[in-house]
Amino acid sequence: MKISVVGAGAVGASCAEYIAMKNFASEVVLLDIKEGFAEGKAMDLMQTASLNGFDTTITGTTADYAQTANSAVVVITSGIPRKPGMTREELIGINAGIVQTVTENLLKYSPNAIVIVVSNPMDTMTYLAHKVSGLPKNRIIGMGGALDSARFKYRLAEALKAPISDVDGMVIGGHSDTGMVPLIDHATRNSVKVNTFLNDEQLQWVVEETKVGGATLTKLLGTSAWYAPGAAVSSLVQAIACDQKKLFPCSVLLDGEYGLSDICIGVPVILGKNGIEEIVSIPLSDAEKEKLQESAKGVRATNVLLSV
Ligand code: LAC
Repeated sequence: MKISVVGAGAVGASCAEYIAMKNFASEVVLLDIKEGFAEGKAMDLMQTASLNGFDTTITGTTADYAQTANSAVVVITSGIPRKPGMTREELIGINAGIVQTVTENLLKYSPNAIVIVVSNPMDTMTYLAHKVSGLPKNRIIGMGGALDSARFKYRLAEALKAPISDVDGMVIGGHSDTGMVPLIDHATRNSVKVNTFLNDEQLQWVVEETKVGGATLTKLLGTSAWYAPGAAVSSLVQAIACDQKKLFPCSVLLDGEYGLSDICIGVPVILGKNGIEEIVSIPLSDAEKEKLQESAKGVRATNVLLSV
């Protein structure tokens, strides 16, 4: 199975690395517009193959989309990352044009591919990919919730002083500092609700730290994060490539689900060989429903800045 990743920056390269390390794809193609960059990243990664024990072939190309032909899954990470103090929404001006061009170029050579959008502002870029491609909604997936949920679990484990494998939780809503909705009342430690162990102040701390998870890292790193985003994308790619029928929160085009339409926003879905195989309706409290609606307002406020 062939996977293509556009953008050989830190997120794209980490994504290629984790896909290779999980050893389920025959081939990963990295594409970047910067001369020689994707080729260099691919070569460096391939020189880890004998050390890390994978057989996936990683190749790089400078903007030659023909090399991505017949990919089963394509991942779009291109565009500029945010700098400290910036919101993801501020990137729309530059990234919208890039994501549109990349989507069109990829689908020219892989008309049957399932598309995963990572570029920010992610929910709006996923919506844009729908608009410019006209693909059925099961084939365009925005990656945000899987990452935000991983950050949620990290903070839950920290507050609980528990191993991460003991913890489960999910973040829905928009992939933005204000739009994320960590479902704290649903979060569990080995099936016991976390509010059994944590007081209100601790629960609130987990929620707030989760929502600014990306911003905290951007401040520390001077640019946006890559390991957890790359790992999250690789998990979605694997679920599709291996037809795992796994449940992840992803940004998908809604058509009445959760009372929302004509918007891409994070909700739980089942991922398998057809991409989004099902949008899962989970019971939300009135407060959670209200937060999701507020989050949708924020995503729509960014969507209107698109010229499609
Ligand atoms: C982050 C970027 C990928 O949250 O949006 O790290």
